Amino acid sequence: MDGTTYLADYTPYPFNIDKVSLRFRLAPHATRVQAHIAMTPLSPGAALRLDGEQLRLISAAIDGVALTPSDYLITPSGMTVHPAALPEAPFTLETEVEIAPEGNTALEGLYMSNGMYCTQCEAEGFRKITYYPDRPDVMAPFRVRIEGDLPVLLSNGNPVASGPGWAEWDDPWPKPTYLFALVAGDLVAHSGSFTTASGREVALNIYVRPGDEDHCAFALGALQRSMKWDEEAYGREYDLDIFNIVAVDDFNMGAMENKGLNIFNSKLVLASPETATDTDYERIEAVIAHEYFHNWTGNRITCRDWFQLCLKEGLTVFRDQSFTADMRLGPVKRIEDVIALRARQFREDQGPLAHPPRPDHYREINNFYTATVYEKGAEVVGMLRTLVGDEGYRKALDLYFERHDGQACTIEDWIKVFEDSSGRDLGQFKRWYTDAGTPRLRVTDDYADDTYTLTFEQQTPPTPGQPHKTPRHMPIAVGLLSPNGNEVVPTTVLEMTEARQSFTFTGLSTRPVPSILRNFSAPAVLERATSAAEQAFLLAHDTDPFNRWEAARSLARQTLMDMTKGAPPAAEYLDAIGRLLADDTADPAFRALILRLPGEDEIAQALHASGTTPDPEAIHTARGALMTTLAQRHEVALSATYESMAVPGAYTPDAAPAGCRSLRLAALALLSQIDGARRAEALFASADNMTESLGALSNLITAGKAEGALAQFRSRWKDVRLVMDKWFLVQASLCPPQTAAERVTTLATDPAFEWKNPNRFRSLLGGFSANHAGFHRADGAGYRFYADWLIRLDPLNPQTAARMSTAFETWPRYDKTRQALVRTELERIAATDGLSRDLSEMTARLLG
Ligand code: BES
Ligand code: ZN
Repeated sequence: MDGTTYLADYTPYPFNIDKVSLRFRLAPHATRVQAHIAMTPLSPGAALRLDGEQLRLISAAIDGVALTPSDYLITPSGMTVHPAALPEAPFTLETEVEIAPEGNTALEGLYMSNGMYCTQCEAEGFRKITYYPDRPDVMAPFRVRIEGDLPVLLSNGNPVASGPGWAEWDDPWPKPTYLFALVAGDLVAHSGSFTTASGREVALNIYVRPGDEDHCAFALGALQRSMKWDEEAYGREYDLDIFNIVAVDDFNMGAMENKGLNIFNSKLVLASPETATDTDYERIEAVIAHEYFHNWTGNRITCRDWFQLCLKEGLTVFRDQSFTADMRLGPVKRIEDVIALRARQFREDQGPLAHPPRPDHYREINNFYTATVYEKGAEVVGMLRTLVGDEGYRKALDLYFERHDGQACTIEDWIKVFEDSSGRDLGQFKRWYTDAGTPRLRVTDDYADDTYTLTFEQQTPPTPGQPHKTPRHMPIAVGLLSPNGNEVVPTTVLEMTEARQSFTFTGLSTRPVPSILRNFSAPAVLERATSAAEQAFLLAHDTDPFNRWEAARSLARQTLMDMTKGAPPAAEYLDAIGRLLADDTADPAFRALILRLPGEDEIAQALHASGTTPDPEAIHTARGALMTTLAQRHEVALSATYESMAVPGAYTPDAAPAGCRSLRLAALALLSQIDGARRAEALFASADNMTESLGALSNLITAGKAEGALAQFRSRWKDVRLVMDKWFLVQASLCPPQTAAERVTTLATDPAFEWKNPNRFRSLLGGFSANHAGFHRADGAGYRFYADWLIRLDPLNPQTAARMSTAFETWPRYDKTRQALVRTELERIAATDGLSRDLSEMTARLLG
């Protein structure tokens, strides 16, 4: 019905694919793809249904005999061979189609980017390459021959033979189509190698455009570290002779885990101190790890259908987060992940796009690569580990690999592995996968007769299609501190399963201060009436670094919420920041996280959750005012911090110096409110790395003193696309909100704004939607600008247009006038002729 796919409708494919051989004859406007598919019927009498879109069929034959037009039916979505034309025994289907990579602006299937051919097949891109069952539960070994007049010709698996203008690749591991990849171009490799634990030598190559090869060393090191970590932490070795990564400039996503041939957005590969920030380096390492880890969690064990997406994505995000935590500072990484979770996933859960980590229907699967599938999916894996313990987790994962290697699995298979290895019943826990929404956790406490009682009440607000929620199985990590600051009960995991549940702690001679949801043990919103004094106490004494930060965060958030209603800043917060600045024992990266105020969107989210309609201008003003107050109040300490955190010597992207720079820039952001941006100007002039250069520039923009610096930055970097992306991004996101819409309108006419390049488009549009008060400007100019561009991009690149439409997901938070303005824009988009399935599904869901 209406093009919706339902989980309940799953049926296995009635044919087994024994082997696939593909031959590509590359040409920009007329690439020929010959497919030779050996198959075995599994269910007599079934028709052979093959997916295929935008293909021109040249020929089709079964067992060498050409099919006649009456043997099959072609529609815009595929080809069906009638049962009567099919043998009952194993047979081979041979087809030849013609496709046009040059005109492919959707960047799905086979397309061209800067003269190179590349593919993107997840989720359903392979059907734009040839006729085939394009679904993840159909797995087969592939052999690929590429013919084309280009020096580098790559595909999955191991290279088997090559000559001038051709190459052959063989991938022995059965795989679904979404992991297929082909790359052809004038590329150079930055090479290395890795010896696996069992002594197998693996050749590693990072392929880039000539001239970029000296920007690959960090990515190669990250790959080697990932390979080693997966052996140590999960006992997983790599399984081919070669691992290739290719960087491309035009890419819809961050990166893709194609078997043996990962394809990356170039911004997640290329790095040098002059062009990449500390954040870029950290992100590159994490994404390289993520895609590499998919080799086991995704490729060797894949998904039965796309509803199970979080089986591979949630788990692999959990794995890459653990990796980064091990490579850098664990608690700092956890805090960063929770900040991102709240900013993206809690926000999604609060609005019209809320859905479970495992949805049960979709129109366009590309619209479900969401924060919920990814980040909440990772939190759910983390909760499982908390429930069964580190050893239990390793046991469960060992069983998962042992039991399911080579299979296409479901969330049920995954849960079962934990049940079987731990002996626990996880039936209720499974709701985390099937239910949408962020649980609210109300906590009250009581103390009498040396006994302390914590009472929790959980309640999840309704989400689209799920009006009634049932209680979740939630691990709540708790510790108790005595009033003098000592820990009297170390971290204990309470398991909540009821709607309302109490837990008691005995033998306590004084009333303790509770530290609840340590390390953010469950993705819930904690609601507890605490005084600012108690938060300040936890910030000073909690042994759990996450909850120390959390105490500061809630103080800051509450202070900002109060300030939007005219209250002065809370003294407890201002004093606590003063003590933190004086605390040299705390790690700089940790101090930086505490010094940085919650963003405007987070304040709006919190106001909405507390029943107040957020006023974007008031939030912007309050945040600026609090920064100024902090700067005035702590000028001396901030200035000393700014000076002492200067890192001497040559730049390295390691966690320690990056932490110093982070604290230094956090101090600078406050100081720039009161020093006329004098320090930012000096730093901009002297910086020898992009982290500080961009940090300085950002502060100059906020201070309204950036025109000279922006011009200088532009002329220095005009030929470096990844840096120009930053030039657009900082202006769009940080320029004064009152005139942001005009600013981005002008920027969109800049010759460097190549709007067909997803990175560039995201820099300007994504940057603008992050300019909270600018995007939500009362006259609707921000919404209009944004909608205009979505309408313009949609015919070319529906996937990116649909993804960016999520900027509108927060509309129900705001006042009636803004709501009406957003509705007008969403309706205008929805009414556009020829709107893609991607964007029309999004507008329909956004409109509710
Ligand atoms: N499999 C995805 C990439 C993907 C998803 C491509 C959907 C096309 C359609 C990949 O493993 C991934 O998750 N990439 C993330 C980065 C990751 C570190 C979370 C991305 O591209 O944003
Ligand atoms: Zn992934």
